[in-house]
Amino acid sequence: MSATHQPAPERRRSGIDAWLDERLHTGKAFDFVLNHPVPLHVHPLDYLGEVTLFVFISQFVTGMLLAMQYHPVAETRYFYCGTAALAAKHYCPAVGTVAPSEAWQSIQVIMSSTFGSLIRSMHFWGNYFMVVLVVMHMLRNFFTGAYKYPRELTWLSGVLLLAMTLGFAFTGYLLPWDQKAYWATQVGIQIADTIPIIGTPLADLIRGGPLLTGATLGRFFAIHMLLLPALTAGLIGLHVLLVNIQGLSAADGLVVLEEGGAPLQQIPNVPEAAIPPPERPGRRVPAAGSGTISASAAQRGADDRGGA
Ligand code: HEM
Repeated sequence: MSATHQPAPERRRSGIDAWLDERLHTGKAFDFVLNHPVPLHVHPLDYLGEVTLFVFISQFVTGMLLAMQYHPVAETRYFYCGTAALAAKHYCPAVGTVAPSEAWQSIQVIMSSTFGSLIRSMHFWGNYFMVVLVVMHMLRNFFTGAYKYPRELTWLSGVLLLAMTLGFAFTGYLLPWDQKAYWATQVGIQIADTIPIIGTPLADLIRGGPLLTGATLGRFFAIHMLLLPALTAGLIGLHVLLVNIQGLSAADGLVVLEEGGAPLQQIPNVPEAAIPPPERPGRRVPAAGSGTISASAAQRGADDRGGA
């Protein structure tokens, strides 16, 4: 942890915060998450991680809604009720399949209602936003050197999150089970197949066999809906925990004043960083030189304003 990070002042508890703390002793945990110091001045690009998190949550919610209507079945079976007696017993054996698939049809059903098309479009475009945002967040961390000591593990967990995001995009692309989805996935898996030695077993594992069939669709659905969300949610938890422990790299070296006052270049994460109170003295004092201020300068600024 950087030596420059100071503990934020004790948090005043009220409302639900106080109510929960009395019963469940949640105060320390809340303080850890909400009351850690963040720098007074941050660049908008410093928030790209939060924006990515927001899109991930939106993908999570819209994905759950879509799963209630989507059928991961690569064929549509038809049944033959040979005699009235069999039909009466509800015994109508499947005798064949017809196109289009249940998967494709279920997407058409979703898109045929206003709400369904809104949710599906949010999920569809959210996927592209997510990929772009993750890459932008990674580039920002690379160019500002945020990956360096002591944040190597944050970076490594981020690399895994990038892989997860691409995994979501790849497995989700097949789910509509149309020609574009089928052949794009075929190409993607063929590329994996070209890796020496492990390529073919890996391609078979991804496909669930030597051919891209309904088994592949079921497998992709399970990976997209169960495996990746569980892994990604856990990894995001770890990633954000690491950020909380170490503080934002933008806060490194900002805190100077310690002459008996709280550090004015850092403010608690929530709610002050989100909704800065106008009366907080540190905000109106111009930062000197390197962007750091001293307690005496801050006090002088406050005195000047008080006298004016
Ligand atoms: C699902 C994808 C991701 C989510 C939801 C996510 C979320 C976050 C959040 C909320 C923060 C704290 C604030 C901020 O810097 O915006 C953060 C910081 C960070 N992330 Fe990510 N992240 C993701 C992917 C990545 C990737 C791909 C990398 C790099 C390979 C990465 C590396 C880092 C680093 C090094 C920090 C610390 C930044 C600092 O201290 O200034 N993250 N991330």
